Amino acid sequence: MRKYDRITPEGTRDLLFEECAAQKGILNQLRETFEARMYHEVITPGFEFYDVFSSSSMYFPQESMYKLIDHKGRLLAMRADSTIPIARLTATKLKGHALPLRLYYAQRIYRQQPELRGRSSETMQMGIELIGLSTFESDIEVLTTGIEALAACCGEDFRLELGHIGIFKLLMEDLDATSEQKENIHSLISSKNYAGLADLLEAFPASQTVEILKELPKLFGGKEALEKARILFNGYDSKLIEMLSYLERIYQGLIELNISGIENLQDKVMIDFGLVHQAEYYSSLIFRGYISSAGEHVLSGGRYDELFKDFGENLPATGFGINVDQLAAKRLKEMDYNAKAEKAVSDSGTPEKNIRIALTKGRLEKNFMDLFDTIGYDCVNLKEKGRKLLLPIPNKDIDVVLAKAADVITYVEHGVCDVGIVGKDTILESGGTFYEVLDLGFGKCRFALAVPKGSDFYSGYSTKRIATKYPKVASTYFESKGMDVEVIKIEGSVELAPLLSLADGIVDIVETGTTLRENGLEVIEEIRGVSARLIVNIASMKMKKTEIDRLIADIQQKVRG
Ligand code: PRP
Repeated sequence: MRKYDRITPEGTRDLLFEECAAQKGILNQLRETFEARMYHEVITPGFEFYDVFSSSSMYFPQESMYKLIDHKGRLLAMRADSTIPIARLTATKLKGHALPLRLYYAQRIYRQQPELRGRSSETMQMGIELIGLSTFESDIEVLTTGIEALAACCGEDFRLELGHIGIFKLLMEDLDATSEQKENIHSLISSKNYAGLADLLEAFPASQTVEILKELPKLFGGKEALEKARILFNGYDSKLIEMLSYLERIYQGLIELNISGIENLQDKVMIDFGLVHQAEYYSSLIFRGYISSAGEHVLSGGRYDELFKDFGENLPATGFGINVDQLAAKRLKEMDYNAKAEKAVSDSGTPEKNIRIALTKGRLEKNFMDLFDTIGYDCVNLKEKGRKLLLPIPNKDIDVVLAKAADVITYVEHGVCDVGIVGKDTILESGGTFYEVLDLGFGKCRFALAVPKGSDFYSGYSTKRIATKYPKVASTYFESKGMDVEVIKIEGSVELAPLLSLADGIVDIVETGTTLRENGLEVIEEIRGVSARLIVNIASMKMKKTEIDRLIADIQQKVRG
């Protein structure tokens, strides 16, 4: 029997020497920041009864939690979050305690991550909870502490982004849509999929609600985002205007803060009306923090006035959690440990440029070069690339890297590339967290179900077998039809599978239809159209906003024209 006694499970790792020192340094700095503001430490158990995390609302997908069973057969869950156990603790052990309560924590959280995506399942998190206040001053206090925490660990290299989940919730209440449509709208807004959102909203009768929803994910940036929102929201329900006014007050309050060591808070504090994360959990103000070396947010928080109701209390609260591991990784980079590796990379080639684009090798390359040529971005290095994979655009601050489609997503998700050019087929199959901002209009083809010509796919009782390079797309399609099929993953030339009688049909992309025709297959159902998309790393969109906005605007001129 194979013994797993020499390795750690995927998503976990040992920390040695310098790594421990870097983590300890961050923990100490955050501890100092929180204690200076009179927050007191609490520690909750490493595992709780599962019910704590699944009370009246299901805040986490149950598949993301690690579960155990106690000696009485009861279900337990490893701590998936700190705020919920702290709400439990406050509603029980601290019941009747003088308010407000200022609590902080430094503990690990455990969440299952998708396989082989390089994400940690165990994260060291520190954060604060301010319980019992629902004032403007309490929100400012928590946000200020968040800024101080990021500044203590990262100097000026951070952005803090504000949003208001109440705005999205109100608009959703006003839209006559099914819960499935609402879920789709939520996901299209949070991924800044402007084209997909506009298509979906086309189906609704014209109204100001639809107009605002369409624009919501585009409303991000500095003060100008608030000004645009004011015009767009004009004449709408007074509750919406109140929420906007509150956001404006908070923004103004923050940029006027005087925090030592921070020059221009105006450049660091941003607004994003498309920030709709964890809509279930938060009730009004929400925010996220970013640093340049992490491809994802490092701080996440907001006001959660409803959460205590799950534990029989009615207490307003605001708080945030910080990913200590990400800050420690940045600290490590800055220390000398990685210097050698980085030096070797920079010595090996030309200096690194500011924006890195991951381009899907093959079919999309030519279209991309045509597009870049038309907008005046010099593609000479791409045209004469030989076997090189990293190719600078000489007249712009841009490097292009050539990668396989699925890897484009991986590089963008992790933030080692800021932007990606990839087909919607790969996005649907791989999933991932990034912004999908433009439909580039090239690389057009369609997903289809194809079978040997003349065969009756739906006849008989036997479970059909489908060969495909896209098992997730194929399974989702047949699930939506309520049909049981057996899906077999094939890496390429999938048309062979029915020819060799391995499968009854295939789900694949079809462009001209030639491959199907020449192999005796025919399309019996079209699943959906696909085309090339421009995707952007979430942190890059905030940290390099000016440069990425310029690139998108240049491309958009051509794509629209
Ligand atoms: C894709 C797809 C089909 C073919 C369709 O394969 O999987 O096989 O193109 O194009 P057509 O309709 O214009 O004939 P690809 O060329 O990417 O190669 P692969 O099957 O080896 O992955």
